[in-house]
Amino acid sequence: MNNSYEYRCVNYEEIHGLDEVVIEDFFSKIELFEGCKVLDHGCGYGFVTKQLLSRNKFEYCEFYLQDTSWFQIQRAQKDINFEMKYFLGNLKDIDFKDNFFDIIISKIVLQEMPFHRQKEEIEELIRILTARGQLYLWIWWIDDEVISFIRDFVKQKDLLTNLNSFLENRYLPSKRECLKLLKEISVDFEILVERNTNYSLLKQKKGDFKNDTSNFDKFFQWTNSKIEKLSNNQIQILDISREKKDIKFKMPQCLIKILKNEK
Ligand SMILES: C[S@@+](CC[C@H](N)C(=O)[O-])C[C@H]1O[C@@H](n2cnc3c(N)ncnc32)[C@H](O)[C@@H]1O
Repeated sequence: MNNSYEYRCVNYEEIHGLDEVVIEDFFSKIELFEGCKVLDHGCGYGFVTKQLLSRNKFEYCEFYLQDTSWFQIQRAQKDINFEMKYFLGNLKDIDFKDNFFDIIISKIVLQEMPFHRQKEEIEELIRILTARGQLYLWIWWIDDEVISFIRDFVKQKDLLTNLNSFLENRYLPSKRECLKLLKEISVDFEILVERNTNYSLLKQKKGDFKNDTSNFDKFFQWTNSKIEKLSNNQIQILDISREKKDIKFKMPQCLIKILKNEK
């Protein structure tokens, strides 16, 4: 199956509803140091690297950007004017050396793979981290009460927008599943930031729907009918607001710092 990221061209800050304050809250917690080697895992169009570059006061950091989509890497290359090291493919295939990166940031990538692959991916990220390195896992942080609604919602969107490989590959873990995964890997971790993002269907109309009104209207109706079936508690958790032409709700994201702490 073709990788749908080879043609997906959206702005994640826009469609995920990440405002400047939330972006600052996350990046203010990521600490670089002089001479560090940084990996932007699942870099997409290089948002993380661009943010780090604009905030970085150190001269000699090395940035590595990795993604499984050539199209996304090209988007990053177009946007970043500095010389960077780009890697196309899965971590396992690239096979970076053990203990190589001081800092790794993986922003909204974990849900792109099937559940059984997620643990392996985190273990691989830890393997390539230096003994005193830090892995920043930036992930969706969805309450168990509403996870099946969100999963169905995303699947419906992917179906109507022909993001076919997503239907097969993606698995959005709940907050509880993420915590369980980290406990199984048995690493030291700390939750640094938890913030709501402001999800809006209308923003998706311009995003994955590319202004396809007919399919967007189907999605709008589908979402409305699903919301009708939610309990008051679920509606409260999602903080849903329904307008004539838009539906808005909260989708939390979280930043977890994982330490390798190898002796
Ligand atoms: C939602 S986007 C996030 C992009 C970027 N991290 C950001 O937040 O702006 C997910 C990215 O992960 C990439 N991806 C999917 N599976 C991956 C994998 N196994 N390893 C690395 N990148 C992957 C996709 O190609 C896509 O660029």
